[in-house]
Amino acid sequence: MHLQLDGRGPLHAQLTRALKTALAGGRFGEGSRLPPTRALAREIGVSRNTVLTAYEQLRAEGFMAARVGSGSYVAAPLLVEAANDPPPIVAPPQTAYARRAREAQIPRLLRRKPPASIRYSFQYGLPLINPALTTAWARELAHAAAYTPPDYPDPHGLPALRETICDYLARRRGVQATPDDVLVVGGTQQAVSLAARVLLEPGDLAVVEEPQYFSLRNVLQIHGARLHGADCDADGVRLDRMPEESPRLICVTPSHQFPSGAVMSLPRRLGLLGYARRHDTWILEDDYDGEFRYDTQPLAALRSLDRDGRVLYVGTFSKTLFPSLRLGYLVMPPALRTDLVTAKWAQDFGSSAIEQAALARFMATGGFERHLRRSTRTLQERRTALLEGLREVGGDRLEIADSHAGMHLVVWLRGLPDAALDAIIAHGETLGLGLHTIRPHYLHRPARAGLLMGYCGLSPAQIREAMPLFAQVLDRAFARQAGA
Ligand SMILES: Cc1ncc(COP(=O)(O)O)c(C=O)c1O
Repeated sequence: MHLQLDGRGPLHAQLTRALKTALAGGRFGEGSRLPPTRALAREIGVSRNTVLTAYEQLRAEGFMAARVGSGSYVAAPLLVEAANDPPPIVAPPQTAYARRAREAQIPRLLRRKPPASIRYSFQYGLPLINPALTTAWARELAHAAAYTPPDYPDPHGLPALRETICDYLARRRGVQATPDDVLVVGGTQQAVSLAARVLLEPGDLAVVEEPQYFSLRNVLQIHGARLHGADCDADGVRLDRMPEESPRLICVTPSHQFPSGAVMSLPRRLGLLGYARRHDTWILEDDYDGEFRYDTQPLAALRSLDRDGRVLYVGTFSKTLFPSLRLGYLVMPPALRTDLVTAKWAQDFGSSAIEQAALARFMATGGFERHLRRSTRTLQERRTALLEGLREVGGDRLEIADSHAGMHLVVWLRGLPDAALDAIIAHGETLGLGLHTIRPHYLHRPARAGLLMGYCGLSPAQIREAMPLFAQVLDRAFARQAGA
């Protein structure tokens, strides 16, 4: 029997593949006998154990049956594709959802990891590395693993965690909620996806801020929503830029407009709630980093002003702890509770109970807020270093959209068009500087050149080291512009 081994991986796996190829090639009909193991081993020069393992694999996959005392037989006619590694065929999108998901081109965007040569990455969304948090979290996880029952969790969220979240929200964000109002979710991303499922038919109109959080926009687009981008000013989203048609949902970031940094003023908050009442619209309040405020007091969350039960308030632990945790919460309007909890159940039966239990204890014992106080101090130092550095090297070439919150700054390059950014970013890369355009956060490409500068991943010393490099980038970009 001639079998071609392909030389990839262990011998038994090579033999299994070669036998499948032979079977699929029609060399054995259904019910015909395969060579005895000893004979085949001798013939192709491998050990009998290798052949036994390969036959066992074929049996486990249902290609082969053994009859006691009489060897191995081909069990069923084979599908040809089972024999080889699947060829790299891209099927046309099978659903409208898949088509929209492809159009969003998310994998292409996510594949862009910073090159190893980047020493100073101003990427937004990097976690704040804190060894004390790692130690505390490891302790909480070990404790939770020992005490968490292994059965399915409550899809609504662990009662202990929902209680601590309510307590925390009342004290820190002015949001009054009962544990029944709180749904524990896999981050903002899942909260938006659940809201879309429950509130929007494909084709329904939803409003996002312009600019907006790229991932939220994409969840809505992939869901099939029609999007309207409403411009923002220093008071937050502009009500005179709402669409003529009443939207079903409005998504906003009132405590810290993402990415521009504006804080929605109280009159605008009240105006938005009034608009939602008149147009019978739901509001999703994304309060992603309201915890980190410097020099100013936070305004009460929109949800705390909502008398009509229209606001879905979303918080996340991605910023306060770390994004790999994938935990957040949705404070649900009473009228949507059942639908949202059912949608969560349908998606994943509930978030991991061990992580939820660890978090509940970390919050209840004060560790979480201690960590927040420490992180706020650290972030403030980083923000100050970046602001000072930018003012020093940028002068009046830069317009810094400062905000007293969060983990990033928006920096506009005065007089430079958006198209200039590709060369600027490429130049930065050659110097080890990771710079990022604000462009993906706009529905309509901005005319000006703007950078979104995250400062979470760099110490003040690193930020100071990066500034002379940034100055070189600016010098060249502005010189090129002057010569153009
Ligand atoms: C505006 C905004 N909302 C929410 C999030 C957090 O999303 P998640 O909770 O899914 O990690 C981010 C993270 O970058 C963000 O920028």
